[in-house]
Amino acid sequence: MDKVAGIDGAIRRYYGQKAVSDDLIEAILYSVDAGGKRIRPLVLLDLLEGFGLALTAAHFDVAAAVEMIHTGSLIHDDLPAMDDDDYRRGRLTNHKKFNEATAILAGDSLFLDPFGLVAESDLPADIKVRLLRELSYAAGTYGMVGGQMLDMEGEKQQLSLSELQLIHANKTGKLLAFPFVAAGIIAELAADDLADLRTAGELVGLAFQVRDDILDVTATFEEIGKTPQKDLAAEKSTYPSLLGLDKSRQILDDSLNQALAIFQKLEANQGFNPDKIEKLIERLRLHG
Ligand code: IPE
Ligand code: IPE
Ligand code: MG
Ligand code: MG
Ligand code: MG
Repeated sequence: MDKVAGIDGAIRRYYGQKAVSDDLIEAILYSVDAGGKRIRPLVLLDLLEGFGLALTAAHFDVAAAVEMIHTGSLIHDDLPAMDDDDYRRGRLTNHKKFNEATAILAGDSLFLDPFGLVAESDLPADIKVRLLRELSYAAGTYGMVGGQMLDMEGEKQQLSLSELQLIHANKTGKLLAFPFVAAGIIAELAADDLADLRTAGELVGLAFQVRDDILDVTATFEEIGKTPQKDLAAEKSTYPSLLGLDKSRQILDDSLNQALAIFQKLEANQGFNPDKIEKLIERLRLHG
């Protein structure tokens, strides 16, 4: 089965239950169905296959869960009180299509529903508890939400590189690291291999926000599905604004290379097959 279709199917199944509010589900699915690269769930599924597991419905549920939280974070990130964006994934933002209250509530749903989805998935209970703990820390006060708070406070200020790195590591890095850690938990890796996977995930996560910052400067609306050059207008500190485009591209490449080295180590020691995850990570490079 096509992996993206499987991820989308898991989200749709969750929202196919008898609704409390059809309008809420319409707003949620509007943003889910807008597409997106689905990088976080694909990382999980490609890694599980690399560890030799046959994919099950439960794996797609965990993959769906991280994509749901990510989509919720985008809906809230676009709100007028935050980045105030009109377009996302090539269409109107949730609050522009519906209204602000609906967008806030759709985001709330997408933050909370994944915990129920993972809890009822067909996995051993101890594995589910570990996954839920990781998901909470990656998304909440100690991860994405905390990073978004720092991001908002950092607007119109000259930040140091280490301050910016802390923002990126939290607002984007930890949720992107979740599928790496989750794959290790599901594949029942030993603690030191799990730590290596987390490091790889954090490297890719940092690289991913540096990439997003570069694309904000260099890409067109058609390429990114959102209004370009918003960071400049909002006077955000970004990797390009602090270090320039060339150095930012180099940091992106270096971080991806370091992550790839970790997969090679896992290949040598654990019989891990890195082909799929390597291909996915190579897609994140930007040239020229
Ligand atoms: C954009 O994320 C926001 C960041 C965290 C950098 P993605 O680039 O993964 O967005 P979609 O899901 O493909 O739309
Ligand atoms: C978003 O960072 C990080 C999130 C937690 C959503 P950005 O604000 O740079 O993401 P885009 O550029 O709007 O997608
Ligand atoms: Mg933002
Ligand atoms: Mg934004
Ligand atoms: Mg951005």
